[in-house]
Amino acid sequence: MAKAAGPVNVSSDWTDRQMRILRADAAAIARAADVLRAGGLVAFPTETVYGLGARAGDPRAVAALYAAKGRPSFNPLIAHVSDLAAAERLGAFTEDALTLAKKFWPGPLTIVVKTRGSAAVCELARAGLDTVAIRVPSHPAARELLANVDFPVVAPSANRSGHVSPTTAQHVADDLAGRIDLILDGGASEGGIESTIIDFSGDKPRLLRSGGIARGEIETITGPLASASKNEVSAPGMMASHYAPRARLRLDAREVHPGEALLAFGNGLPTSAEKARKILNLSERGDLTEAASRLYAYLRELDASGAEAIAVVPIPGEGLGEAIRDRLARAAAPK
Ligand code: TXA
Ligand code: MG
Repeated sequence: MAKAAGPVNVSSDWTDRQMRILRADAAAIARAADVLRAGGLVAFPTETVYGLGARAGDPRAVAALYAAKGRPSFNPLIAHVSDLAAAERLGAFTEDALTLAKKFWPGPLTIVVKTRGSAAVCELARAGLDTVAIRVPSHPAARELLANVDFPVVAPSANRSGHVSPTTAQHVADDLAGRIDLILDGGASEGGIESTIIDFSGDKPRLLRSGGIARGEIETITGPLASASKNEVSAPGMMASHYAPRARLRLDAREVHPGEALLAFGNGLPTSAEKARKILNLSERGDLTEAASRLYAYLRELDASGAEAIAVVPIPGEGLGEAIRDRLARAAAPK
């Protein structure tokens, strides 16, 4: 196996980084671990979307991460760790939080708990909150990367802030080339939609973001989940406009206007579909899991068609449909 050559050289200036894309084999992952240790920025595959990793306890690395994404620093990051034991060193788990972690980790679930104040996740990464968001990803490359370092890795989705999340290494390069140090290419993310975020820091568990694990699966353990209140600052990633392509999105479309691109679902097409500039179908067989896995790639592809607007057919709201509808609504919100 070829060892990735050369010293690890991390520029202190995030605007001038020599980014490489490496297939996520053992040598590349070891190199990525070195880059993280040195305070660099590494994009890596997870089962949901690609993340942009930085050493969570290094405020300079975390500041560079916010800058590279153009992300407002009041929007806290998720700390990724390799197992529950590591998670419990960072935050105080309630009984329900523990039960959920044992059932769904590793996997697309993020748990918010009161921080234990560990310096392993710096204050900037938590945006000064007294809580910390933690996740144990299941993607083999992500797991191996986390096993190669002895610190938590904060990783927002590896896109420019507000843009569509990346599900391939190429998507990451399209958004962040020149701003980060390394991309580990582990193929397309299978889940395609971010982790579900549950907040256990208050009196009642709350659903902060719908995602890869459907609400119903979680509620069998927690009972009915409260929702995040509108305009809440504690989950700013839930800002109205987010996950957005350049083109305007028109939701629940029952007909296509001339010049629009069409994002379809299921086996029927809306009226005047022949007028569409380009058509992509999230799942002809109406499978929401398949639709979630394709959502972001298809939004990017329809955006690239040059259409001014993307008409999106109605997507059912059950199961993973809740998260898909949530992302589409944010992508459609006025910028
Ligand atoms: O699937 C995922 O979660 C991906 C992969 C890379 O792991 N990551 C991801 O990170 O989606 P990001 O930064 O794009 O979204 C994190 C969300 C934001 O909405 C942020 O506001 C929220 O988590 N968050 C982080 N820490 C929080 C906290 N302490 N309390 C409430 N919300 C928090
Ligand atoms: Mg994101």
